[in-house]
Amino acid sequence: MTEIKPLPHILQTKPYVPGGKLAGAQGHVIMLASNENPFGPSPKAIEAMKAVAADVHVYPDPEYRALRETIAAATGIADSARVVVSAGSDEIIHLLTQAYAGPGDEILFTEHAFSMYRVSALSHGADPVTVPETELTAGVNAILGAVSPRTKILFLANPNNPTGTMLPVDALTQIQDSLPPHVLFVVDGAYAEYVGPEYEARIRDLVDRRANTVMMRTFSKIHGLAALRLGWGYMPEAVAQTYQRIRGPFNVNGLAVAAGMASIQDVEFLSRSREHNSDWRVRMTGALNAIGLATPPSHANFVLPDFGTAERAAAANEYLKARNILVRAVGGYGLPARLRITVGSAEDNQAVLSALSDFTASR
Ligand SMILES: Cc1ncc(COP(=O)(O)O)c(C=O)c1O
Repeated sequence: MTEIKPLPHILQTKPYVPGGKLAGAQGHVIMLASNENPFGPSPKAIEAMKAVAADVHVYPDPEYRALRETIAAATGIADSARVVVSAGSDEIIHLLTQAYAGPGDEILFTEHAFSMYRVSALSHGADPVTVPETELTAGVNAILGAVSPRTKILFLANPNNPTGTMLPVDALTQIQDSLPPHVLFVVDGAYAEYVGPEYEARIRDLVDRRANTVMMRTFSKIHGLAALRLGWGYMPEAVAQTYQRIRGPFNVNGLAVAAGMASIQDVEFLSRSREHNSDWRVRMTGALNAIGLATPPSHANFVLPDFGTAERAAAANEYLKARNILVRAVGGYGLPARLRITVGSAEDNQAVLSALSDFTASR
C-alpha cells in the first residue's frame, strides 16, 4: 500500500474525453469529430515550420515577442504586452483557473458549455456551477442570476462548443457591465473566425472596455494547427502579468511559433476556410432538417442534429462508424439525443449527409 496520494479534488476530476479515433477501422476514415480544418494547415505555415525544423535544438524566445507582436498586428491589438500565448487554449483555461480560483470558489459556465471548464475547475478544487440553458443558449439574466459572492470566473464560449449557438455582442457587453468586481469574464473565441472579422474585432474591443474581461483564441480550428497546440489570449494588463507569472517559461514550442506567425498572416487561406465553412454549414443544416433531423443554425464549424432520442442518436453513431465516418457523441454534454458533426471537405460532408439520409429512411 502506498501513502502517496493526490489531493482529494484531483481524485474527483474526470479527464476530458477527446473526439478520438475509430478503433480497428480499415481504409480511409472520415474524421468529423474534432472540429478540425478540412483544408489542413496553411501551406505558408508548413513552409515556415520546414524553415525552422533544423533549429529545434535551441529553446524558443521565452518572451515570444515576435509571435505576440505578429498576433497583435494581425488582429488590430495596439499593445502586444497584453497578448499571451499558450500550449493550446486549454492551457489558458487551466492557468486562469489556477491563478484566480481554488477550494471554496466557484467557476461559472453554461449548461452545455465546453467541458474543459468543468475539468479545470475540479482539478483546481473549485466548484463548477452551471447556468441552465433554454433552446441551447443561456440568456444574460440567467447567467447573471447564477453569480454568487464565491464566483471567481465566468467562462463563456461564444460561439459555444458543442451547441454552435452564440450570444450577440450586446449581451456580452451587458454581462461585462453587470458582473460584480470579483468576477473575471473569459470570452472563449475558439470559433470566432467562423463568425467573421467584424465579430473578432468586437470581442477584441470588449477586452479594452473594462479590466474584467479576457478573450481566448486558438490556432487549432480555422488555422488547422491542432497538433501543434497553440493558443493565445488578449487580456487586461494585470491579468496578462498574472498569467506570465505562472506559465512555463517555454510553454509554446518553436515549430508552433513559426507556423502560428505564418498562419495568422495568411489572410487568403483564412478567408477561403471561412467561406467554405459558411457555405457548407448552411447546406448541411438544410439537408439535415430536410431529412427530419432538427438542426439549429450554427455559428461555428460544426452542426448538431437532433435524433429525437438517445437510442436513435447512438444507433446513428454506430451506423456512421460502420461506414468509417467518425462524428462526436455529446451525451457527456447533456445532449444524448444529438451528434456533433464537423463541417469537413465537400466530399466528406456529402458522405455523412448521404449516410444519414439512408439511416433516417431505414429507421
Ligand atoms: C470552445 C473551445 N475552447 C477551447 C478549446 C481548446 O482548444 P485548444 O486547446 O486546441 O486550443 C476548444 C477545443 O475544442 C473549444 O471547443
